[in-house]
Amino acid sequence: MSLQPIGIFDSGVGGTSIWKEIHKLLPHEETIYLADSKNAPYGEKSAEEILRLSIKNTEFLLNRGCKIIVVACNTATTNAIAYLRETYDVPFIGIEPAIKPAALNSKSKTIGVLATKGTLTSALFNTTSKNYSEGITLLDQDGEGLVPLIEAGKVDSIEVKALLMKYLTPMIEKGIDYLVLGCTHYPYLIPVIQDIVSDKVTIIDSGEAVAKQTKSILEKFNLSANNQRPKHKFYSNKSSEELKHFLMDYEVSVDFLNF
Ligand code: DGL
Repeated sequence: MSLQPIGIFDSGVGGTSIWKEIHKLLPHEETIYLADSKNAPYGEKSAEEILRLSIKNTEFLLNRGCKIIVVACNTATTNAIAYLRETYDVPFIGIEPAIKPAALNSKSKTIGVLATKGTLTSALFNTTSKNYSEGITLLDQDGEGLVPLIEAGKVDSIEVKALLMKYLTPMIEKGIDYLVLGCTHYPYLIPVIQDIVSDKVTIIDSGEAVAKQTKSILEKFNLSANNQRPKHKFYSNKSSEELKHFLMDYEVSVDFLNF
């Protein structure tokens, strides 16, 4: 048993899609969420810079007593999780584009991956995609420009639709039947994406899998909690208002913090 909080970080608001899955599966766990929105998008930064920011975020959460860290960001996971696991003493849960289920289930043998440049160019992504894409055509696309629009709350905007049309049309023309969302910001675009790709394409995101993995690791290390009134603290270093926008249905505290 450990009543200490679960620490979660992302480059911004996107990881709230993961927080929601964790909260649904583990309602008695306290959480601290860190949105490094001031430095978003991570996807356009160098591997060194993504690592430096991931270390800073991890130490912020560890200094507040977190018992486990969920890296709710594909870009940070694929560039930094190996180092974080080697360096710090707590368990780390990461998120990577879920190529495996898409490749296993695809009938057209053609799948799409929409992720950030930082994820698509990482060594970890390249290894995973090689391991699971034998006999599969894997079309990857950098979603440049989407994260800043989501950060600004423009989820349903004309700009988002135009970018998605540009990125997804070539994949549809090449016959994908699965689309893997490789960025935790993108689940907020699912209604728009589904409209563009039609119901012939199955969209896969890994939020639920991350929550299940978090539960199983907490159990394995005897770290689960049964807080009766768990608190949930959210911090943004850019705008608490923008972060709040994604948490409207939840009883949580959201604050600006200059870190
Ligand atoms: N939400 C992040 C991800 O899963 C990062 C997006 C970004 O900051 O570029 O990759």
